[in-house]
Amino acid sequence: MTHAELWERHKAVMPDWLSLYYEEPIEIVQGSGRRVTDGEGNSYLDFFAGILTNAIGYDIAEISDAVREQLSSGIAHTSTVYLIRKQIELAEQIAKLSGIENAKVFFANSGTEANEAALLLATQNRRSNQVLAMRNSYHGRAFGTVAITGNRGWSASSLSPVNVQYLQGAYHYRSPFKNLSDADYIKVCVDDLRNVIETTTSGDVACLIAEPIQGVGGFASPPDGLYGAFKEVLDEYGILFISDEVQTGWGRTGDNFWGIQAHGVVPDAMTFAKGLGNGFAIGGMVARPDLMDSLTANSLSTFGGNPISTSAAKATIDYLLDHDLQANAAKRGAQLADGLRGIAEEFPELGDVRGKGLMLATEIVNPADNTPDAATTAKLQQETKNRGLLIGKGGLYGNVLRMAPPMTLTEEETTEAIEILRDSFNTLR
Ligand SMILES: Cc1ncc(COP(=O)(O)O)c(C=O)c1O
Repeated sequence: MTHAELWERHKAVMPDWLSLYYEEPIEIVQGSGRRVTDGEGNSYLDFFAGILTNAIGYDIAEISDAVREQLSSGIAHTSTVYLIRKQIELAEQIAKLSGIENAKVFFANSGTEANEAALLLATQNRRSNQVLAMRNSYHGRAFGTVAITGNRGWSASSLSPVNVQYLQGAYHYRSPFKNLSDADYIKVCVDDLRNVIETTTSGDVACLIAEPIQGVGGFASPPDGLYGAFKEVLDEYGILFISDEVQTGWGRTGDNFWGIQAHGVVPDAMTFAKGLGNGFAIGGMVARPDLMDSLTANSLSTFGGNPISTSAAKATIDYLLDHDLQANAAKRGAQLADGLRGIAEEFPELGDVRGKGLMLATEIVNPADNTPDAATTAKLQQETKNRGLLIGKGGLYGNVLRMAPPMTLTEEETTEAIEILRDSFNTLR
């Protein structure tokens, strides 16, 4: 069956709002390392990795073996009413890695569920329904998480279980304060935070939730240190700080294991998903014990932290720590960023090159006035695919090309991708 035929069947039974990449969407049927093959036999270097989820690549023997070993016991699921050894081991490991004192961990199945848990816990803990979030954020697809998503393109409903105020600062490139020095930028954003608390809330706000680098928002980020400066104000009011590490966790940003460490702050909680299971469905939250224990009713996730997903996740973390993939993300990220900056020197359409480690993006603009150019962005994404490179697209205006390859990326593969990117930009002339 061709891609075209499969696409027709997709359209007949899948929702219209589940959008697909490319003029002619593809099915990925095979993968190895950083390469995948589609249903019509074309092979690609994968620089989007299932939206940053195949964090260490395809067909990793250690992960497949761990899952097979669990399956060979006959047990795929037991439920959280029983002890799950792998879940406990994984929780111990994540608690230790978190840097949060005496941390506790709750497992769910996705980033959305992780953030829903964080909202439930923070609002219960603080006995408040007021939440702060960042403009241009994305935190998930359910009612609570859509409500804290500051991006019209992903906010299908205004219904909200929480009362949300949005802060300035996460999207530096298009901020009204973009021309300030980093220190002044941080100062005005902190002033704005204080002003929002004083003028739009009743003071007893539950939490601020923020992505250290905004994923769906086009890898937009503030200057390092912003969230550390925010935390000082939040502490004055007793407001909890939650870092959404769904895209930035596990060393992807190169400099740090958690994205929020670039801001010199230990959050009260972190949420995670995507890369943790290297493709197996797992998400969760790690938090201060008093915060985690603040529910006064029962709660559980039937599948959350099941034996299969926790076996895969434990094998994934062990692999990325044993192979120091954070260091590789830093090295290969620097190489890719250099390559992108080189292209930007020739092509003024590249308005901004940003991100950290192997989480890099370029904002595509009309050079005359820096306005977003979504059409050229879509063309470039298609051109890279035609040349054997899969990359992501995103941002508030759909004009950001996102690159987040598996963290096992090699020097040769990085060089190959830069060449394909350059060739693709050459089609603009
Ligand atoms: C930062 C962030 N938080 C939460 C989510 C939601 O995760 P999921 O799609 O697993 O529910 C995403 C997904 O893209 C994300 O990027």
